[in-house]
Amino acid sequence: MIRTMNITIRQLQIFEAVSQQLSYTQAAELLFLTQPAVSMQIKQLENEVGMPLFERMGKKLFLTEAGDELLIYARNISQQLVELNDVMDEIRGSERGRLTIAVATTANYFALKLLGEFYKRFAGTNINLDVTNRESLLKHLNDNTVDMVIMGQPPENIDVESTPFLDNPLVVIAPKGHTLSGQKKIPLSVLQKETFIMREHGSGTRIAMERIFEQSGYSISSVMEMSSNEAINQAVEAGLGLGVVSRHTLELELALERLAILDVESFPIMRHWYLVHRQGKRLTALMTAFKDIVIDESSQILE
Ligand code: PGA
Repeated sequence: MIRTMNITIRQLQIFEAVSQQLSYTQAAELLFLTQPAVSMQIKQLENEVGMPLFERMGKKLFLTEAGDELLIYARNISQQLVELNDVMDEIRGSERGRLTIAVATTANYFALKLLGEFYKRFAGTNINLDVTNRESLLKHLNDNTVDMVIMGQPPENIDVESTPFLDNPLVVIAPKGHTLSGQKKIPLSVLQKETFIMREHGSGTRIAMERIFEQSGYSISSVMEMSSNEAINQAVEAGLGLGVVSRHTLELELALERLAILDVESFPIMRHWYLVHRQGKRLTALMTAFKDIVIDESSQILE
C-alpha cells in the first residue's frame, strides 16, 4: 500500500503563516494561537514529512528546501479550498433561483397555469420543465433528476412523498354524431367491438384504461398509438376511432362541440393528480413555495 503523508489542512495553514512571517510568534498572533501551539503543529508536520521545514541561522528563520517545496503545495491547496468555497456558493445561489419540474403529458394542460401563478410571484426563477409520460417520470424520480413531479398514481417502489391535489377523470370520447353518443350506461362489451386510438406504452392514461377492460375480462383493439393527447382528440374527431383521455384535455373540444363524451359503465375512471418528490428531499424556499401553490391553491387557480 502506498503510504500517504498524514497532514491536516490546519497544519498547512499554520505552516503557510510561519513561512510568510518567518516567525513563530508573529504567526501565532496572526492566527490567534499561542506560540507553543504553533511550534507543536510545525513539529508534527516535520515529523510527517520526515525532514525539517525551517532552519534557524542566528536569530533568523529560513525555509529549508523541503519547506520551499511544501509551501508551493500548501498554497495550491489553499487556493483550491477558496475555489471550492466559491463553487459551493454558486451552487447554493443558483439552487435558490432554479426549479426543475417534470409533469405528465396530460398534466401539462393545467401545470402551465400553476407555473404561471408561481412565476408571477417569483419572477426571475429559472424554471426547467419536462413534459413526458409516466414511465419517464418514474425514471426522473428514481434517478433524482428533478425537484418535483406532477403525475397520476405515485410509484410504490420508490421512496416518495406524494400529495393528491386534483381529480383526474378519464372519459371515453367519440366523434360528434357517433351511434353510441346519447346512449346511457353503455356496457364495456359493446366498446369491445369498437377500435381505439390509444396513448403510447408507458402512459398512465393507457395503463388505467387497459386495467379497467382487463379487470372486466374484455380486450380492446387499437388502430393507432399516439403520444399526444391533442393528436388523439383530433384523430377521434376525424372518425378514426374512439379514445380514452383525461377530461382536462377536452376543454377546447367540448367548448367547440367537436367531440362527445360517451356514458360508459365504469367510466369516468376517477384518478387523481399528485405532487410527488423524493422522501427526505431538501426543499429550497422556491420548491416549498411551488409545492404550497400546487397543494393549497390549485383548485382556485384552475377554476
Ligand atoms: P400520462 O398521464 O398518460 O400523460 O402518462 C399520467 C397519468 O395519468 O398517470
